[in-house]
Amino acid sequence: MIDLLVSDLYTAYDRADVLHGVSLHARAGEITCILGANGAGKSTLIRSVLGLTPPHRGSIRLGEAELTGRPTHRIVAMGIACIPEGRKVFPRLCVRENLLAGAYRVGSREQVRENLEQVLRIFPRLEERAGQLAGTLSGGEQAMLSIGRGLMSRPRLLIIDEPSLGLSPLLVKENFNVIRRVNETGVSVLLVEQNVNQTLAIAHRGYVLAQGRVVAEGSAAALRDDAEVQRAYFG
Ligand SMILES: Nc1ncnc2c1ncn2[C@@H]1O[C@H](COP(=O)(O)OP(=O)(O)O)[C@@H](O)[C@H]1O
Ligand SMILES: [Mg+2]
Repeated sequence: MIDLLVSDLYTAYDRADVLHGVSLHARAGEITCILGANGAGKSTLIRSVLGLTPPHRGSIRLGEAELTGRPTHRIVAMGIACIPEGRKVFPRLCVRENLLAGAYRVGSREQVRENLEQVLRIFPRLEERAGQLAGTLSGGEQAMLSIGRGLMSRPRLLIIDEPSLGLSPLLVKENFNVIRRVNETGVSVLLVEQNVNQTLAIAHRGYVLAQGRVVAEGSAAALRDDAEVQRAYFG
């Protein structure tokens, strides 16, 4: 569990800024959500945190450590795991192999085995299907698998980009229950979503991004009741 503190972040792809001074605080132990419509800059924010599209101004701190200027592999090694948009699994590898792929930088075999056991305890469904090819899993199971793979490195902060994309409402609910359970095991979560109502049902706090700026922030309850937020961004 660890705090992520983003201050006054500016990120551009070419010349034009996509993020215009974004600040946010994902508190240790909480689920923090970032809501916003398509193109608001949510994925760019994640890419900035991971050093994939480095910001040209502002700061990103994980606990006491400054992340800006560090290469992605170092940032990841500090305890961040990310499940990118589209949550790809390796379809021709079995469930167990997919999970092990998430532990590539875990030092000892002993530790890998322990992490695998812990992840399978969180996802009994994956344990039942451990030998099955990932490509033959249902969409919901693949979503679980992608989260399980992220957990194999024992991250302190798990970043998930639009996990509900392409899932039926029932599976979204199930998937979000999984995220809540993961958080309860002591992992801070930064959850990027467009699905406002279900996201606010599991998040502690949230931020609303529009055109690269934070336009609303607060506790999940406050955002849920914020008629302006509902009307302006989510119809
Ligand atoms: N690789 C890229 N190169 C140039 N522009 C990009 C790139 N990725 C995203 N953008 C632009 O940045 C803006 C924010 O995109 P993105 O961060 O993907 O938003 P979101 O994840 O909220 O849908 C959009 O206008 C998008 O067109
Ligand atoms: Mg995105």
